[in-house]
Amino acid sequence: MARKTSLPQPAATASLIAQRCPLQPTLGLILGSGFGPVAEAVEVERAFAYRELPGFPVGAVSGHSGRLLLGRWHGVPLAVLQGRAHFYEGFTLEEVTFATRVLAALGVKTLLVTNAAGGINPKFRPGDFMALTDHINLMGANPLRGPEPVGLTRFVDLTRAYDPELHAALEKAAKSAGTKCREGVYLAVSGPSYETPAEIRAFSRLGADAVGMSTVPEVLVARQCGLRVAGLSCITNAAAGLGGKHQTVTHPEVLAQAKRRAKVATKLVGEFVKRLK
Ligand code: HPA
Repeated sequence: MARKTSLPQPAATASLIAQRCPLQPTLGLILGSGFGPVAEAVEVERAFAYRELPGFPVGAVSGHSGRLLLGRWHGVPLAVLQGRAHFYEGFTLEEVTFATRVLAALGVKTLLVTNAAGGINPKFRPGDFMALTDHINLMGANPLRGPEPVGLTRFVDLTRAYDPELHAALEKAAKSAGTKCREGVYLAVSGPSYETPAEIRAFSRLGADAVGMSTVPEVLVARQCGLRVAGLSCITNAAAGLGGKHQTVTHPEVLAQAKRRAKVATKLVGEFVKRLK
């Protein structure tokens, strides 16, 4: 028996969107902290505020604007989630990932998920980009928990969660955008507090290269829906304890660093989109 949920069916919200905009997106972009300005490069056909869309979360974290855009970029029809809901805002992971299910219901086949992250790998510097090779889920929760969605498995295989071809496309895109692209493992925590230096030392030993508070829930749902997934982080700061004696980690600093890299991020994502034609 399906358990009660207050969320609508993702397909219902998708058909409402499709009624208002005939464009059929094949690519989805989830723009995290600092990647919001990437949306300015898209030829927008229709913009929806999240509050217009049943089931979409209305969050309030600075740096996130809360709009779904449908349009084209380099000729590729795409759907852009400009701003996301986070677990740390108090949303359930079902709410956090609802929009990802709507993208799948709209016909999206490929998803690029972006975020800001703290660098754990000692080679990483603030401002670097990192293509995700894999992730470690330490959020303490999983969006696939609960009733099995009709027609989908809950026992999702994650041996290649991040598509190797898309990863290669991100690396080429970075080169064309004139920037380096690191690669590594993203570790997700629930937040909202930043980590302690002891936690970061532990995460380093676990094999993490970067740490953040998002992305993993959307990737899990996207894989359940059969989407090909790529992940891209902007390393905005040295993770706690790795930035010298006087280091602090603050949200305004994270946003400011991401903003400094927004132009290059836009170029990089644009070059990636070009390669999906
Ligand atoms: N920790 C967790 N999340 C983050 C960080 C960090 O250092 N930087 C940006 N997002």
